[in-house]
Amino acid sequence: MDALWYGGDYNPEQWPREVWGDDIRLMTRAGVTVATVGVFSWAHLEPEDGLFEFAWLDDIIDRLHTAGIRIDLATATASPPPWLSTAHPDILPVTAEGVTLGIGSRQHYSPSSSTYRRYADRLVRELAQRYGTHPALEAWHVNNELACHVRHDFSDESAVAFRGWLTARYGTIDRLNEAWGTSFWAQRYNDFEQILPPRAMPTFGNPTQLLDFDRFSSDAWLGVFRAEAAILRELSPGIPITTNYMSFFIGGDYWAWSEELDFISSDHYIDPADPDYPVRAAMSRDLMRSLAGGQPWILMEQAPSAVNWRERNAPIPRGVHRAMSLQAIARGADGIMQFQWRQSIAGSEKFHSAMVPHAGEDTRIFRQTEALGAELSALGPIVGSRLSARVAILFDWQSWWVHQQRAMPATIDYIDGVGRWYRELWKMQVLVDFVRPGAELSGYELVIVPAAVSLDDDARSVLDRFARAGGQLVVGYMTAILDENLHVTTGGYLGQLQQTLGVRVDEFAPPAAPSLSGGEVPGLAVDGLGAGAARDWGEVVTPLGAQVLSTFVGGLLDGMPAITRNEVGDGRAWYVATAPDDLESVVRAILPATTLSDPPPQAVGVEIVERGPYRFTLNHSASTVATETGPLEGYGARIEALTPR
Ligand code: GLA
Repeated sequence: MDALWYGGDYNPEQWPREVWGDDIRLMTRAGVTVATVGVFSWAHLEPEDGLFEFAWLDDIIDRLHTAGIRIDLATATASPPPWLSTAHPDILPVTAEGVTLGIGSRQHYSPSSSTYRRYADRLVRELAQRYGTHPALEAWHVNNELACHVRHDFSDESAVAFRGWLTARYGTIDRLNEAWGTSFWAQRYNDFEQILPPRAMPTFGNPTQLLDFDRFSSDAWLGVFRAEAAILRELSPGIPITTNYMSFFIGGDYWAWSEELDFISSDHYIDPADPDYPVRAAMSRDLMRSLAGGQPWILMEQAPSAVNWRERNAPIPRGVHRAMSLQAIARGADGIMQFQWRQSIAGSEKFHSAMVPHAGEDTRIFRQTEALGAELSALGPIVGSRLSARVAILFDWQSWWVHQQRAMPATIDYIDGVGRWYRELWKMQVLVDFVRPGAELSGYELVIVPAAVSLDDDARSVLDRFARAGGQLVVGYMTAILDENLHVTTGGYLGQLQQTLGVRVDEFAPPAAPSLSGGEVPGLAVDGLGAGAARDWGEVVTPLGAQVLSTFVGGLLDGMPAITRNEVGDGRAWYVATAPDDLESVVRAILPATTLSDPPPQAVGVEIVERGPYRFTLNHSASTVATETGPLEGYGARIEALTPR
């Protein structure tokens, strides 16, 4: 398609036919180019076992096609109908405590259920046979937000699948015992048959078992995608396939999943009550572009205004939906889709905003729907263009999972830690890619590695080579403490990165959490680069040749290194052993070693991104700000054509 995607989830089965004509009329008025159809339609498409009813979907697809609207056709497998779950309760997922999750909402199935698979495959096959070559078909939309509500399933069928997964990974039970360190607490297994998912236990579970269950669960959900995609590829060749991600979502290793998708799409719901929403959204958009390997991606769902699933659901202020849509385009999206087209009048999402609100077309929200459609239709020349970043942040699902485990030295909020670095670069208008461990880094000048706690030897070597070849490598605390089996590397933490960084980490000393009784707790501070309060983490760092740029102040760590820099090969390796409040100074000290130095200062909340033929200037503050190209009103956004260089 040579236009941007614009539209949303369209659920006509919730409405009488009279409304369908009105939908098409309003979609045409709003410049909708794509509708996502069928996401929750299983019960309407197969009202009884093996009885398929496609007439209504034929009608809808024809109406959309006649109106020139392309279709992102969902496989409808996200919510099995009650007849299926009652006839085959074995499909239902089970929690760690042994509670079987019932019907009446959605996603009530185990990704490992062979019965679910059989029924879902049959439905997908029917759909692909019927619509796989339809001229209006733009893309296939597999399932919906895989793993969203059921990240792990602890059922017996899942236990069997987990054992199969472990057998494939380890081959022999001895290798599993070695990897899991089962000499500890008499956890040794004699046979794969003895292994269970980590169901509710008296205390701390085996860390490697927990990690393997996270890996297995991510793969199990990817398996749901893979099974459906195989049918679609067979029966509907050439039509690209996606499934909608959930931004930074812990349940799936999206690096692995992205190898199997034809294009990346993701949902993102800003929280207008969170002042940090522009940074969080930018970070999510940059992750999606990175998962896509730099190719354009689709913002598959966002809310036109309030959602219905927070404690209090703030509306999105005037201007913000437009600015955030343009932020996604600026950061590589080739489409802006919303949940949903017409606001439901029944069901648990009736208070979730939609492009056509309850109050109808003469409303602020429908005017917003129309205005954005008109604006996006003029941005055709951007379609397909790519961005190029010179800074990367390493992002690792495995480390995220490990930080969630108990029995760690301190609970670290991994996303928060990554976000702190991201925010400083965002404030300086520096575009960031995310990279996976072990990824090729030669195109970057600066690579930041925050809290990647579990890294294998290959991933450590890539970082070392990057610095020696002239890169600026910044390693944050809690990196490379554990290998891929979560075994500690002895002789001081960091393993081979000790030589790269010119430091050794001997001991951890995280500051105490704030006292619940309101009493004083010992704080942490640093002196030198990034001087002032520091949070989250402290540790005993022994320099092995690195230059000390700042030191800890007070307590056990008094006078010990907090931030260091090592000249290594043609590059430099920085080590940052805490989270200084003044991270900005640290980033400003690092950037001059790259070609990114001295970004022009901008008013607070202003974001500038260039993509393809345009420069996007966004004002995320409520008041008018001065920009290089004139004043910009609160929550305003300006698109300027760049003069070709
Ligand atoms: C998710 C789902 C949608 C809808 C929205 C509501 O993104 O994919 O079906 O439930 O949340 O925000």
